[in-house]
Amino acid sequence: MKISVIGLGKLGAPLAVVFASKGFPVVGTDLNPVFVDAINDGRTPVDEPRLQELISENRERLRATTDAAAAVAETDVTFVIVPTPSGPDRVITSPPLASLARRAPSAAVSPSSCKIIATRAGSSGSRSCPSPSSIRVGRCRHGLR
Ligand SMILES: NC(=O)c1ccc[n+]([C@@H]2O[C@H](COP(=O)([O-])OP(=O)(O)OC[C@H]3O[C@@H](n4cnc5c(N)ncnc54)[C@H](O)[C@@H]3O)[C@@H](O)[C@H]2O)c1
Repeated sequence: MKISVIGLGKLGAPLAVVFASKGFPVVGTDLNPVFVDAINDGRTPVDEPRLQELISENRERLRATTDAAAAVAETDVTFVIVPTPSGPDRVITSPPLASLARRAPSAAVSPSSCKIIATRAGSSGSRSCPSPSSIRVGRCRHGLR
């Protein structure tokens, strides 16, 4: 199973790397080319304990691109882990998610319900779910195991 991870920040990068360390081919994607270049060069894009070590050990299963649509289309499962700001009424007002939906034609996002639908182009039927997080920066690798 191939996995894509959209957003290679403080949580997304460790998530992508841990999946690769479990044997899954992973394509990470981010708007920030510095983060994408870091992954492709085998460097950690974020400061997280032992992440550099894991990247070095799993480079053959890990790569990155700024092309979210391509990453979604070529993988079986997509994890979206980008900023989710909310307004005073606590409704998610997520420009990054809306931007993501525009950039990846095969991804549709309903920010108000925090429901993310990533549909592989050409696939029949897809499933989506919000993913409550209980990991924290600095202990991502431990929390994701
Ligand atoms: N940091 C934490 O401790 C923590 C804990 C629990 C939940 N969260 C949630 O997890 C999510 C990610 O948090 P984080 O700390 O990793 O954020 P972050 O800011 O470190 O990383 C987010 C990444 O997403 C990228 N991005 C933004 N829009 C994008 C788009 N349209 N396409 C591709 N990439 C895009 C950014 O360039 C950035 O690299 C947020 O919703 C946050 O609320 C964070």
